Order: sequence, then C-alpha cells, then structure tokens
Amino acid sequence: MLIRLIYLSRPVGPQTVARTDSILRKAHAWNTENDITGMLCEGQGVYLQALEGDRNRVTSLYARIHADPRHKELELLHCESIVERRYRGWSMAHVSLSDVDPQTKIAWPEFDPYSASGALVMARIDALVACGRAVRATP
Ligand SMILES: Cc1cc2nc3c(=O)[nH]c(=O)nc-3n(C[C@H](O)[C@H](O)[C@H](O)COP(=O)(O)O)c2cc1C
Repeated sequence: MLIRLIYLSRPVGPQTVARTDSILRKAHAWNTENDITGMLCEGQGVYLQALEGDRNRVTSLYARIHADPRHKELELLHCESIVERRYRGWSMAHVSLSDVDPQTKIAWPEFDPYSASGALVMARIDALVACGRAVRATP
C-alpha cells in the first residue's frame, strides 16, 4: 500500500550547503533503492519534506529521520493512502527556500508553515514545484 507523508521540522544549527548536500546524497541513495519518492524544501529555518512509497518503508524511514539530531520540533502535517505518486521520478526533489532568492520570496511570502494546515502547506509545495523551483537531488 502506498502512502504520502509530509512533516515539518526546524534545523539544529546552520542550514549549510554542505549539510543539505549530505542529506540529499543519503536520500538519493537510500530512497532510490527503496522506491521512495518525495521532495525536501529547506531554508528560512525550516525543513519541509514529503515522502511517498510503500507504507512500511515510509514509516521506518520517518522513524529514522525523526531520530536525526540535525533537526528538531518535527510535526506531522499530513499522511494519506495514495493511488498515484505526486513526485514520481524524484528520489528526492530539492527546493531551496533561500533568503536571498527574490523568486522564492514571492512564492513564499511571510508564510509560517507551523501555523498552516497540511492542505495549505501541500498547496504551497505544489506551487513551488509548478514554478520550476524543484531540482533533482543527484550526487
Ligand atoms: C531533513 C532531513 C531529511 C532527510 N531525508 C532523508 C531521506 O529522504 N532518505 C534517507 O534515507 N535519509 C534521509 N535523511 C537522513 C536520515 O535522517 C538518516 O541520517 C540516514 O537515513 C542515515 O540513518 P542511519 O545513520 O540510522 O543509518 C534525512 C535527514 C534530515 C535531517
């Protein structure tokens, strides 16, 4: 059975390019092997990740991610059974919510995902993907 899970968290320490690269490299390798797809939005003091795949595998991956000391305050925003994947073809798409990127600011103005509903957050993610903000997380 396929599911999609979306959670939100806050980084512990600075969200450096090196740290993001290390997360994406691991995600690309493990997710490809385990048929997990999804996307990671990061920047502006948040991680926002969607994971899709077999329920059992997504659940155990989420448990591992939950225990990762590089972030904290994890909140589960959304979890549903799905028939089709939304991020088919992406082992882990990456959207950077960089402070210095004016295009991102337009896409995400003063948005606080911690006080928004799961549905609204998902709509924001879709908007970022639709306007071409997602890039492939390949090593
Ligand atoms: C925000 C965030 C997202 C992550 N996403 C994934 C992912 O999609 N797939 C993955 O295998 N690891 C991901 N990781 C890394 C895992 O938390 C963990 O470090 C990695 O799977 C190695 O786990 P292990 O040391 O218990 O083997 C992520 C970590 C963070 C902080």
